[in-house]
Formats: sequence, C-alpha cells, structure tokens
Amino acid sequence: MSDWSIRHFDKDDLKAVMSINQTCLPENYPESFFMGLYHHAPLAFLVAESDDQIVGYIMCRIERGVSSFSRLPVKKGHVVSIAVRPEYRNNGIGTALVTRGLEAMKQYGASEAFLEVRKTNKDAISVYERLGFSVRRVLRGYYRDGEDAYLMVKSFLVARGEKTDDA
Ligand SMILES: CC(C)(COP(=O)(O)OP(=O)(O)OC[C@H]1O[C@@H](n2cnc3c(N)ncnc32)[C@H](O)[C@@H]1OP(=O)(O)O)[C@@H](O)C(=O)NCCC(=O)NCCS
Repeated sequence: MSDWSIRHFDKDDLKAVMSINQTCLPENYPESFFMGLYHHAPLAFLVAESDDQIVGYIMCRIERGVSSFSRLPVKKGHVVSIAVRPEYRNNGIGTALVTRGLEAMKQYGASEAFLEVRKTNKDAISVYERLGFSVRRVLRGYYRDGEDAYLMVKSFLVARGEKTDDA
C-alpha cells in the first residue's frame, strides 16, 4: 500500500470525486450538488490522495435543527457522502476522512454530527461506531430501492469525567 494523505477538495478534483461516487455508491448526484456542498462548507469536503490520484472523499453539510441529545436547537454536521475506492480500503483512509470531517464540522460550530447508512452496510457502520457514532433510530424505506437506513448520531460535547476522544 502506497502512502496516502488527506487534503481539502479543490474544484479540479470534481471529476475524480464524481467517478468514485458513481463507482462506490448507488446514491449519485449532478455536478451542481457536489459544488453546492463545496461552497457551503469547503473545510468539510475532503479528499484522500494516493499514487497521485484521488482515492476517496467525504462531503458534509452544516445544518440547523433539534439536537438528537438535548432537544435544543443546535448546529449539526451531516455526513452527506463518503467513499473510498475498493482497492484502497482497509488502510485507515475512511476513518481518517470521517475524523477530519468531524473536525471541520466543529470548526463550523457544530455540536453534534449525524448520518444515514444502509442497515446492511457493515463496513461503514463499523467505522462510524469506532468513531463514536451510535444508532439513534431506523429510517424505514429511506433509500430509493426501499432499504432501511440507520440514523447514526455523535455528540461533540464531552460529559464531565468522560475522556476526550480524537474527533
Ligand atoms: C465505508 C468506507 C468509506 C470505509 O473506508 P475504508 O478506507 O475501508 O475505512 P478504514 O480503512 O478506515 O476502516 C475499515 C476497516 O479497516 C481497518 N483498518 C484501518 N486501518 C487499517 C490498516 N492500516 N490495516 C488494516 N486494516 C485497517 C479498520 O479497523 C476497519 O475495520 P473495522 O471497522 O472492521 O474494525 C468504504 O468501505 C467504502 O467506500 N464503502 C462504499 C461506500 C459506502 O458505503 N459509503 C458509506 C455510505 S454511508
């Protein structure tokens, strides 16, 4: 496995990111969707590079809504899409992308993060759980093909006496 690194998305990366999205996920979007997220929260749109090419990405949105933890109005970071090319998986890239995405969300003032993931997507769920996300509820028929999603949430606030984590 070659070295890899994480950096902010640049608009020249658009084609590569869209190609990874189309290869790795059934949820695909037009260019305007990717660029809209980039302009909305550039620090939270990250790519992974290895072998002089883009091999993964994460893009996030900052939203206002009711806290999953306190029921108070808060800013939340939403992991909209993440993928790593199959041949580069299981090397820590996905974990690093999520970790850096969470850090960016905090920079935008978010106090918690959430995401949707297919109930059968064990690889992704495992990464999210290791990073402190937990399943909050099932979103029945969330995906176009009818599959259910788990809504997973993570608070950035540290309870007294709890050790701080890396994200
Ligand atoms: C989910 C996804 C992004 C994870 O990416 P990844 O780069 O494989 O993630 P990581 O390498 O950080 O973690 C995957 C596993 O590799 C392990 N790993 C991490 N670094 C490793 C290393 N250096 N050597 C060996 N294994 C390693 C991790 O422990 C993890 O295993 P576990 O979760 O079973 O404990 C990737 O599977 C993917 O793109 N899936 C398709 C798209 C998708 O489903 N996106 C999510 C939609 S919600």
